[in-house]
Amino acid sequence: MTQRTDEPAIRAEGLTKRFGDKQALAGVDLEAAPGTVLGVLGPNGAGKTTTVRVLSTLLRADSGHAWVAGHDVREDPEGARRNLGLSGQYAAVDEKLTGRENLYLVGRLYGMGRHAARRRAGQLLDGFDLKDAADRRSGTYSGGMRRRLDLAGALVARPSVVVLDEPTTGLDPRGRADTWTSIQELVAAGTTVLLTTQYLEEADQLADTIAVIEGGRVIARGTAAQLKARVGGERLSLTVPAAHQRAPAAEILDALGPHVPALDARTGRFTVATDHGAASLEYALGCLRQLDIEVRDVALAPPTLDDVFLTLTGRPRTAGEGAVAPPMEGAR
Ligand SMILES: Nc1ncnc2c1ncn2[C@@H]1O[C@H](COP(=O)(O)OP(=O)(O)OP(=O)(O)O)[C@@H](O)[C@H]1O
Ligand SMILES: [Mg+2]
Repeated sequence: MTQRTDEPAIRAEGLTKRFGDKQALAGVDLEAAPGTVLGVLGPNGAGKTTTVRVLSTLLRADSGHAWVAGHDVREDPEGARRNLGLSGQYAAVDEKLTGRENLYLVGRLYGMGRHAARRRAGQLLDGFDLKDAADRRSGTYSGGMRRRLDLAGALVARPSVVVLDEPTTGLDPRGRADTWTSIQELVAAGTTVLLTTQYLEEADQLADTIAVIEGGRVIARGTAAQLKARVGGERLSLTVPAAHQRAPAAEILDALGPHVPALDARTGRFTVATDHGAASLEYALGCLRQLDIEVRDVALAPPTLDDVFLTLTGRPRTAGEGAVAPPMEGAR
């Protein structure tokens, strides 16, 4: 669009924001190249929504700078808004209006003519699988349908930059997969996307680069592969159903190498990092069999972003933060 190709589509430098005595942002730096997805990953209260509100000109930072498509959000909020579509954490749809009316209204607010606004609403209703419900009051929509309508609303004016605050929180696996597909299509069409998420696998799936944020700071950044590389070898995991067999099993796993096995006491699931992959697995299973220890669900997998988070922060991402279950296959 009006943007030079060598400049980032989204840039933030040293953003800070304090609410009373709460330092919500303590110096956030971000950058997304045009046509890429930047995943901002963090637990509850990390500062994701605050960052999104600053970028979308809804909130003024105490200090620092941010640009959207080259427009300074403080100096030229109009320019920033013209290039930006926002879908908030809580779907902002007018429940009294139908889905079609909601989208039509957004188009008109963006200055589209009646005909163009109507056509665009129709396209988006098709694209987001809302055709059948298009002329029903959106107050009757399910949570997933509302999220889709809200996401569609962010795209009405074909912005070059789209900011999505937790676009899949609260969706079922089908709704989440559909949203992922929509985001991938957007990016394939050249749009730059910043998405926030608490789901490590979502960032892993969608994001070209990831910024891990906690306590209002970026504590790590890079590609999913780079972040994974920081935590080293594969993860061996297995479940020991019988509680009395867990202590001897722990000893065997501990003896595999320098890494300390972790045990989920509720499920009996052990996880341990291993530097020798399949060989460690075979050895461990041999020892466990010798002691007649029953094991289930044996797995060997590359480190996940969950492991990365644990390594970076020294604790699981859900500890004490109102745990949110991982969205798809469940805990690894
Ligand atoms: N308007 C506000 N007034 C007071 N405190 C606020 C306000 N907005 C955010 N905060 C605080 O700032 C911190 C960051 O909040 P933010 O909403 O950015 O987190 P988040 O990463 O979006 O979390 P979540 O995953 O729960 O949406 C939190 O401690 C929050 O309580
Ligand atoms: Mg939030």
